[in-house]
Amino acid sequence: MSIHPTEAVRTHLEHAGTGEQPVLSLRGAAVRVGGRTLWSGVDLTVGAGEFTAVLGPNGVGKSTLVKVLLGVLPAAAGEVRVLLRQRPPS
Ligand SMILES: Nc1ncnc2c1ncn2[C@@H]1O[C@H](COP(=O)(O)OP(=O)(O)O)[C@@H](O)[C@H]1O
Ligand SMILES: [Mg+2]
Repeated sequence: MSIHPTEAVRTHLEHAGTGEQPVLSLRGAAVRVGGRTLWSGVDLTVGAGEFTAVLGPNGVGKSTLVKVLLGVLPAAAGEVRVLLRQRPPS
């Protein structure tokens, strides 16, 4: 199976003119839901064309990570960047 960046992602990267820039990065990121810290101290960098799997048992916070990357949920700490844009802090 191969995964290709969407046209929007490809266009953005071309316009950024920085093929070396990571597509997404987290530094010391943490998230809280329902008054509970699900994860913290998360450092992750994914480059263009890289395939990254996030593994963990049910309820560990994988879907919540996706929500933070989408900007649906704010990170409680740290820095989250997707396509060079910093996600707003909580
Ligand atoms: N909005 C929310 N309010 C309270 N608890 C939540 C909320 N969203 C997720 N949770 C809880 O956070 C934990 C992680 O959820 P989730 O990210 O869906 O885990 P995974 O995808 O790894 O199975 C679960 O215990 C879930 O019940
Ligand atoms: Mg899930």
